[in-house]
Amino acid sequence: MPIRSLIAASFCIAGSIAFLAGVPRLAPAADAGRGKTLYAACAACHSEKPDALGPNLKGVVGRKAAALDDFRYSAPMQRADLVWNDANLKAYILDPQATVKGNRMPFGGLREGRDVDDIVAYLKTLN
Ligand code: HEC
Repeated sequence: MPIRSLIAASFCIAGSIAFLAGVPRLAPAADAGRGKTLYAACAACHSEKPDALGPNLKGVVGRKAAALDDFRYSAPMQRADLVWNDANLKAYILDPQATVKGNRMPFGGLREGRDVDDIVAYLKTLN
């Protein structure tokens, strides 16, 4: 085999190994089970109890912001004009005030993107 194609072949193999090794880190699957555990921090306020501090999050993915009749939302949340989806839920959980300025959720936000992904995966199971 000519030396040139040998070199080309080894680059190719090295490239594929790097690619394969990178894949699991690039796209870790969100873990709804882990999200359920983390959701304990949200469930302190978000539950189905009538006297809960926060609105019920059952079915929140795909729902309009501030859509529940039996919860008194803040004016900024009512004006937010959002339909909750992956992207805006993640942004809101990471930084509630930056996402819906002036809303009344007394929660500073989570730091870890992975935790947020897992919580959103869990929210999707609540229907
Ligand atoms: C200390 C209480 C508290 C905690 C903890 C809390 N929330 Fe909230 N949440 C609220 C309140 C109150 C509102 C309503 C805000 C408003 O009307 O401005 C709200 C609103 C929301 C909404 C909008 C719901 C809707 O019907 O539009 C989402 C989504 C949400 N919270 C997700 C979460 C998640 C996920 C967590 C955990 C990571 C969490 N919250 C933690 C109190 C809390």
